[in-house]
This record gives sequence, structure tokens and C-alpha cells, in this order.
Amino acid sequence: MKELILLLIIIITISGAPPSDVPIFNVDLDGDAFHRWDQVLASFSNDDLQNFVTLLKSSSTLQAAYDSFWSSWLETNVEFVFGTELKTEMEGVANYTNIAFKDIVEVNLVYELTVACSILIGYDENSNPFLSHNEDYSLGTAILRQIVMRVNFQSNGSTIFTGISYAGLVGSRAIYKSGEFALAHDQRESSASIEDNLNNLTAGAKPIFVLIRQVGENCSDFTCAFNMVNTTYIASLGYFGICGKQPNEAYVITRDREQSYLVNQTFDGTYNWYLYEGNSDLNTDPPPYDIRREFINNYMRVIDQDDWNHIGIFYVMTFYPLRRESTVWNMIAIPSSSFLQAKILSCTTIYDRANTPIDCTSCTPTCEQGICLEYQGKCSCNAGFIGDSCDTLDTTNLPTTESTSDKDNVARGISITSIVALTVVIIGIFIYPKCKKEKSTPNTDDKEMK
Ligand SMILES: *[C@@H]1O[C@H](CO)[C@@H](O)[C@H](O)[C@H]1NC(C)=O
Ligand SMILES: *[C@@H]1O[C@H](CO)[C@@H](O)[C@H](O)[C@H]1NC(C)=O
Ligand SMILES: *[C@@H]1O[C@H](CO)[C@@H](O)[C@H](O)[C@H]1NC(C)=O
Ligand SMILES: *[C@@H]1O[C@H](CO)[C@@H](O)[C@H](O)[C@H]1NC(C)=O
Ligand SMILES: *[C@@H]1O[C@H](CO)[C@@H](O)[C@H](O)[C@H]1NC(C)=O
Ligand SMILES: *[C@@H]1O[C@H](CO)[C@@H](O)[C@H](O)[C@H]1NC(C)=O
Repeated sequence: MKELILLLIIIITISGAPPSDVPIFNVDLDGDAFHRWDQVLASFSNDDLQNFVTLLKSSSTLQAAYDSFWSSWLETNVEFVFGTELKTEMEGVANYTNIAFKDIVEVNLVYELTVACSILIGYDENSNPFLSHNEDYSLGTAILRQIVMRVNFQSNGSTIFTGISYAGLVGSRAIYKSGEFALAHDQRESSASIEDNLNNLTAGAKPIFVLIRQVGENCSDFTCAFNMVNTTYIASLGYFGICGKQPNEAYVITRDREQSYLVNQTFDGTYNWYLYEGNSDLNTDPPPYDIRREFINNYMRVIDQDDWNHIGIFYVMTFYPLRRESTVWNMIAIPSSSFLQAKILSCTTIYDRANTPIDCTSCTPTCEQGICLEYQGKCSCNAGFIGDSCDTLDTTNLPTTESTSDKDNVARGISITSIVALTVVIIGIFIYPKCKKEKSTPNTDDKEMK
């Protein structure tokens, strides 16, 4: 009874602060490029845009690199990098917002300057390829939540593709073409500097946001999008998650500037029916503080693909440790069933390891404290950390070797819908007292938020 009341309280708490939809706008590609963004910009506070610019400029090393590149080369070559159309759009944005053109160009190179994210790709219960992206951005998370937008780029009155981005940016962070494909990008660490990224622009490399928008404008199908992402010379390294509408059209492409380093594909109905890309190459282990891949592997391998849909995807992508304090928004796209969802993730109530609700409305660092997760009917702490003091977790049924056998041959401990799983997890938080003596360990995984 007590549990039931607590459960109700939790459900109320959760539903009391639901993630909100990313606001939707239409942008007419047939209209005058200079005024193309006016209506969109009118819906945002100019202060938020200005704050974003100010924030980006607040890093002195970053700003020094950009200033020097601007005066030595970029100022006279904006058209070379962005093309005539996007240059005009940026001039219009600068004029409309009364923010210097140089600063608008800088925010449009935001990925070349800084960002981090993650991608999950695979197949749903109907074998439809899906793509989900979490946008993590530790620099100015709260401001970005105010200016994220979902834009239907239209021509002749119909939507050519949808892009998710930020007000003031003319490129796209992720795109979706209904019935055809979805594409998102994620940060790949490298020893290269901001100067390296910028200098590559002089040799014709494309900024990431520009490439993604151009894929949306130029490609009507998956094959075109895949090839463009696989071969275009880009200014900074990255991972691309891309999925189409056909079975087995789901890939993570690991890019060097000039070419692909890895192309990983997932296969529907097999043990390898999903891929998760955090910020480490898929042929290496992530650093020890990044527990996300381990978490997702443990989680997905007990999920039954037959009960797996956008609800389950949203649930796992917005669950610690995949969702973090700096997660700005989540996108889920299933092109073959014309499903697109983009939600702004504000920091809502979560629970610490002592099962005490943490009021993190102010997004204090406690937001990323560990919580308990029901896992194969047992209690796990931080899920990935098998063998933590919640060590009753039985791992003997977990598959340990990769096989491409039919999914029915793979040990999958539980077969329940994701909604039920959510409920079980919530109950699990309360009825497994073992977790209560769990002490939080120092949380170091925010290190990767560069
Ligand atoms: C730039 O914006 C101002 C008002 O903010 C407007 O009066 C002016 O016409 C705009 N310039 C162009 C070229 O449209
Ligand atoms: C737009 O629609 C009109 C009438 O349906 C058609 O004649 C024209 O070719 C279309 N333009 C483009 C760019 O598709
Ligand atoms: C591109 O970046 C690499 C570093 O990854 C650097 O070695 C190379 O010189 C850069 N290319 C140009 C044209 O600046
Ligand atoms: C893609 O489209 C843009 C404008 O829509 C154009 O400027 C660019 O050259 C095209 N790129 C390719 C590779 O087709
Ligand atoms: C992707 O690009 C790499 C080279 O960068 C090439 O070897 C590979 O064949 C391409 N993959 C596909 C499927 O076209
Ligand atoms: C991705 O591909 C590389 C090279 O083929 C391989 O070594 C790695 O194990 C693959 N990773 C996954 C998760 O499939």
C-alpha cells in the first residue's frame, strides 16, 4: 500500500513536469533568402539569441582562434564556405536580430568550435529502422533549451525535410525526411584543435551543420544521404547516425575529415539489432568514466525487440546515464512510419541512490547522481556497474559473445512492454531496500562533456 502511494506520487511528479515539444516552424525555401528566417526569429527572445552569442564568445581561447581566422581569411570567404544562399540567410538573421554578422557566422560554426552528443540506432517492433539522438551541450544548456527549434523546410507548399537546430543557425543539427531517412551527428573526440577545424574550411571542408542541411535539400532518398555523409570533406571529425526505411538501413558512420574511418551497420532481428554511439569509436572501449555504452548494452540485451517502440526508445534515452544534466533535447525518428518526435528535456525530479527524490529544478550537479534500476528482476545500481554493492544482480543469463543468430536464440531475460518496464523500474526503486544502503560514488562521467 505504501509502495502504491509512493508510486502514485512519482507518477504525478513525472507527469507534472513533462518534457515539452520542440516548437515547430515552417521556412519557405522558395522565398527571399534574406527574410527567410524573419518569422521564426520573431518567435524567440532576442535576449536568448544574444545570450547564446555572448556565451560562445565567453571562452577566450575559442574566441581568439575565431577572431584571428575571421580577419585573416573567413571575412572575405563566407560565401566559399556556406554558399550564396546560406550567406544571404545569415545576413538576414544578423540584420533581423541586430547581432553582428561576424557573430552570426560564429554561431553557425558552433560544432567546429564545441559540442557533444549521443546516438542510438536500430529497429523497432515492426523492423522499422529508427534513429534517436540526445543533444548534450554543457555550455549553456538552459539557453539552448530556449532556442531549440524544429523547422519544416518547404518548397512549393510542401515540406522537403525537417531540421532540428537553434534559432540563429541556418544549418541543421539533425534532419528527417518523412518516409525516407533520418540523420544525426555526434561529437568525435580528437587531438585536433579548433584551428585545425577552421583551417580545413580554407581547403573546402564543409561545416557539419551546413552538410546536414544540404543533405536534406539535395537528397530525396537514403542512398544519396548515405553517400553524401560518407564522402563529403568535413571540417571536423564526427559520428553520423543514419537510417532509412528498408530493413537493415541503419548505420553509424565514423568520419575522419576526408573519408570514413568506420562504417558500422546493424541487422534487424539479430543480436546486433542496435548500435549506440556515445563519444568513442565503435572499435574501442569508451574511457572508464563513460558508462553509457555498458549501460545500453546491458539494457538492450534484455529488451524484447518485439515490444520495442518509440516509447521504450524515449524511456531509455532519457534515463540516467544516457540523459544527463546537459541534455538539451531528444529526437526519435522512424522514417518508414513517418514518426518524428523532438522533446526538450528539462531537468525533472529524479532519485538519488538513497531513493530520496532530488529536486533538481535548478539543475544542480546532484542531477547526475546514480539511481537504482530494476534489471532482470533484480536490483542494479547505475545499471552498467554490475557488481556494485547491489551485487545480487545475476549476470549468468546474459549473452557474452556476439552471434548473428536469430533473436529468439538470444537470452533475453524479460519480455514486457516498455511501459510495463517503466512501472517495474519505478516500483523497483522503492521495493528493493538493498539499494538504500548504496552510497553514491563520485560521479566522473561528466568529464566527457567537452
Ligand atoms: C535591416 O533591418 C532594419 C530594421 O531592423 C530594416 O529597417 C532594414 O530594412 C533591414 N535591411 C534590409 C536590407 O532589409
Ligand atoms: C511548383 O508547383 C508548380 C505547380 O504545381 C509547378 O509547376 C512547379 O514546377 C513546382 N516547382 C517546383 C520547384 O517544384
Ligand atoms: C586539417 O586538419 C588536420 C588536423 O587534423 C591538419 O593536419 C591539416 O593540416 C588541416 N588541413 C588544412 C587544409 O588546414
Ligand atoms: C546541395 O544543395 C545546395 C543548395 O541547396 C547547393 O548549393 C550544393 O551545391 C548542393 N551540394 C551537392 C553536393 O549537391
Ligand atoms: C564509405 O566510404 C569509404 C571510404 O571513405 C569507402 O571505403 C566505403 O566503401 C564507403 N561505404 C559505402 C557503403 O559506400
Ligand atoms: C564497428 O566496425 C568495426 C570495424 O569493422 C569493428 O571492429 C567494431 O567491432 C564494430 N563495432 C560494433 C559495435 O559493431
